[in-house]
Amino acid sequence: MRVLVTGGAGYIGSHTCIELLESGYEVVIVDNLVNSDKVVLERIEELSGKKPRYYDYDVTDMEKMKLVFEENQIDAIIHFAALKAVGESVYKPVEYYSNNLISTLVLFKLMKVYGVKNFVFSSSATVYGDAKTCPILEDFPRSATNPYGRTKLIIEDMLMDLSKADPSLNIALLRYFNPIGAHKSGKIGEEPNGIPTNLMPYITKVAIGKLEEVSVFGDDYNTPDGTGVRDFIHVLDLASGHVKALEKLCENPGLVIYNLGTGNGYSVLDLIRAFSEASGVEIPYKIVGRRPGDIATCYADPSKAERELGWKAKYELKEMCEDSWRWQSQNPNGYLK
Ligand code: NAD
Ligand code: WQD
Repeated sequence: MRVLVTGGAGYIGSHTCIELLESGYEVVIVDNLVNSDKVVLERIEELSGKKPRYYDYDVTDMEKMKLVFEENQIDAIIHFAALKAVGESVYKPVEYYSNNLISTLVLFKLMKVYGVKNFVFSSSATVYGDAKTCPILEDFPRSATNPYGRTKLIIEDMLMDLSKADPSLNIALLRYFNPIGAHKSGKIGEEPNGIPTNLMPYITKVAIGKLEEVSVFGDDYNTPDGTGVRDFIHVLDLASGHVKALEKLCENPGLVIYNLGTGNGYSVLDLIRAFSEASGVEIPYKIVGRRPGDIATCYADPSKAERELGWKAKYELKEMCEDSWRWQSQNPNGYLK
């Protein structure tokens, strides 16, 4: 089976490509490297022992993307390519809408022309907005509070329409919770541009001495220690979830939706403590005001994925921290040599 992986050089995409290659899939990557580095492609080859075909194309470019479908008989698409920084999306909404929506529409059009029936979409727990209760089930109400989240919501809605119009399509909406961790080799991991906005990459930058201290955004939430609670999930568990989703699509299920989370909530202070223990590096932090738009608590009920995909997250917080640290400490400058 040949899988087109858009955004395959990115954080989650690169780990998934390795998992796919190791599971015997052929992989074709399209990534314009807007948030990644060409070195990732060498490392995918080094780690998997296989060289996936790679196109340095923008997925919004219909003419270029046609070439990819002409040159490769694609059986399934995993669509990771997107801009993903929540804060940035608020002041650059046009960039987010055009990149995330147009890339997806280009794929939809080409799927029709080239008869591709299987599509896996990188959705997010952000589509649940501020859920009234946790753990969160797939049928909870959805909402968006920022342009990034709205692109996920719109694409989910478009996929539901596509599925109604053509029941022969097989579509998986995978809603990731908070991915952290890195490949066991320490050779690939998360490397955001500029100062990280997500918690784990911020912690690892403090640990290597590139940033001074972590600002903890609020300790007055209604949570056990007052700081935000999240469902941190190892990126390797996410990667295996994608392979399981592809297997599911082979059963012709139509449209399916799964939470990919562990089901456990840990606080910001829990993560800082677990990271210090795993790395042996003390992480200085200070409590500051809440970050606008943040919610108190968010964790998944992942039992549907376990029931229907036979998938369950297997990595604990300690291992997530150890692996994030191995990646960061071995690559203090990320992919820059
Ligand atoms: P990432 O930025 O590391 O990877 C995205 C990749 O897509 C990058 O390599 C980037 O260069 C590429 N890309 C973006 N726009 C492109 C375009 N128009 N054409 C070609 N390539 C393009 O992000 P990630 O963390 O790996 O996230 C992957 C997907 O998962 C995204 O859709 C994201 O919204 C979603 N997601 C991420 C998280 C998270 O916290 N990391 C959580 C939930 C959902
Ligand atoms: C986690 C917790 C912060 C940084 C985001 C997106 C979501 C999804 C995953 C894509 C919160 C606190 C953070 C810091 C802190 N991405 N924090 N100091 O906000 O849960 O989710 O990434 O789909 O859509 O919104 O993740 O890592 O930014 O924050 O105290 O420097 O850490 O307040 O409680 P979040 P995060």
